[in-house]
Amino acid sequence: IENGLAATPAMGFNNWNSTHCRAEFNEEMVKGIADLFVTRGLKNAGYQYVNIDDCWAEPNRGPDGNLVPDRKRFPNGIKAIADYVHGKGLKFGIYTSAGLKTCDAAGFPGAIGHEQQDADLFASWGVDYLKYDNCGDHLGQSAQQRYTAMRDALRNTGRPILFSICEWGENAPWDWAQPVGNSWRTTGDITDTYASMLGIFKANVQLSHHAQRGGWNDPDMLEVGNGGMTDAEYRSHFSLWAMMNAPLLIGSDLRKAGQPTFDILTNRDVIALNQDSLGIQATEISNTNGSHVLAKPLDNGDVAVALFNETGSATTISTTAVAAGLGNAGSYRLKDLWSKAVSSTSGAISASVPAHSTVVYRVSRTGAFAAPPKGTSQLSSLR
Ligand code: DGJ
Repeated sequence: IENGLAATPAMGFNNWNSTHCRAEFNEEMVKGIADLFVTRGLKNAGYQYVNIDDCWAEPNRGPDGNLVPDRKRFPNGIKAIADYVHGKGLKFGIYTSAGLKTCDAAGFPGAIGHEQQDADLFASWGVDYLKYDNCGDHLGQSAQQRYTAMRDALRNTGRPILFSICEWGENAPWDWAQPVGNSWRTTGDITDTYASMLGIFKANVQLSHHAQRGGWNDPDMLEVGNGGMTDAEYRSHFSLWAMMNAPLLIGSDLRKAGQPTFDILTNRDVIALNQDSLGIQATEISNTNGSHVLAKPLDNGDVAVALFNETGSATTISTTAVAAGLGNAGSYRLKDLWSKAVSSTSGAISASVPAHSTVVYRVSRTGAFAAPPKGTSQLSSLR
């Protein structure tokens, strides 16, 4: 959607993957995350949005029909939290659903039929981002109608509010949501397992040509740091999400996170792929027996190449600079974005990749043939 937002994929935090609706989801948590964004370098690395998910509201609307913040979790209301987050130079996001109820079994009020009232309330609180879920009675309306109604309500507030569509890929949103939202979920919910992450990757990677600046495929929020995968698997998760121009929403409670989690989430070389201004989602150029090769053209003429070993045993994964869209430059520089090792090649791009791991190279042309200007044939051949 051309609302001036999400020119590159959103980066931030959302509590859902770490807390669901448990009591630890509260004002203290949200403030603590905002603090850590500043003190642990996440803000400097590009993370901006501190977002809250389902279960932030009381089960019933107030006498004026407005949503009411949960009195235990948010005793000072939502505006106080938004103000706190803004005070750190960050942005604040909220959640509701395009139906009569949200998804939690307790059934908090959704926004259908109240789109403008709720959008106005969010704007008055200083909300910068809305995740719009798909639960509750749809009152016979199609997904496109329901999400378009909220797009219009947000627009009417006059406040720039990033619009995140969350209908789980059920109605092929990649075919209609580009003018409606800034991102659209492409799958059901991620869980903190390698199998879940892998399945979502395989679905989302096929949709690369539907993403562009302002409107992104969303393979769901990050599980990095939640404990269900190894660090190597979390590095794969982060690398693949970055390559796929996914919104990078941290899903672990950073107050409890160890250094490896921060190291993964703040790898600036990998983040730079996700935030590259060309906005081209990586294409899978080959997948042989679980050896995946992804290529992503970058603004300066470089190409990012990810070698992902899906399988449980180490293997060598190989491609070439030509296959990755770099043309016949004769020689190239490879930078491994996790180990930081730099090497050179006349065209072969290859690595021994441990089980479930990913090697990501940034490949630059260094040969006699100068880097062509951006927007040329190499790029279009990959779309
Ligand atoms: C379903 C969504 O896909 C999740 O990300 C989360 O928002 C839950 N609903 C909340 O109930």
